[in-house]
Amino acid sequence: MKLKKIDLQNESEVKFVYDVRCHPDVDKWLFGSRPVNFESHKKHLESNERVFIIYDDIPIGYCSYKESGEEIEVGWKIHPDYQNKGYGVKSVPMLISKIRSKKNIVLYVVKNNNRALAVYQKAGFRLVNADEQSYKMEKI
Ligand SMILES: CC(C)(COP(=O)(O)OP(=O)(O)OC[C@H]1O[C@@H](n2cnc3c(N)ncnc32)[C@H](O)[C@@H]1OP(=O)(O)O)[C@@H](O)C(=O)NCCC(=O)NCCS
Repeated sequence: MKLKKIDLQNESEVKFVYDVRCHPDVDKWLFGSRPVNFESHKKHLESNERVFIIYDDIPIGYCSYKESGEEIEVGWKIHPDYQNKGYGVKSVPMLISKIRSKKNIVLYVVKNNNRALAVYQKAGFRLVNADEQSYKMEKI
């Protein structure tokens, strides 16, 4: 398994990320609205988000990070065909090791997303805050 920085010139990689992001079984766990269309999705990828495709011979899902004020926010989206097979647990330390910054690494999880909570706790994140819908976690 490896993490590969997305090639924004590679239409099939950009399309793969779009399809995973828009899949209803992924989207239901995410904040914010789905990209309106493929073009707005491409523009979003060209902004400040650093996206890595998770490959295990074939693309499995993706993870990303972006600077957000004094923090770095990370996130994972595994294609539903490959969820619960260990890719999340294995890829968290791989992404963390790519982030060379002294800023705190944080993420946000919908409160009933028990699988994500289990994965992130296993990977060394702890709860630091909560609102009505979500938990904020920080890498220890
Ligand atoms: C959350 C997500 C990244 C996890 O990655 P994954 O590859 O599916 O997870 P893994 O297979 O590595 O690990 C799943 C772990 O959660 C546990 N788990 C699975 N379903 C669970 C549930 N409903 N409640 C509690 N634990 C659960 C598994 O037992 C496993 O733990 P183990 O390694 O101790 O056996 C992935 O499922 C995903 O992309 N989901 C949709 C989008 C999403 O929720 N992203 C996160 C937004 S913050």
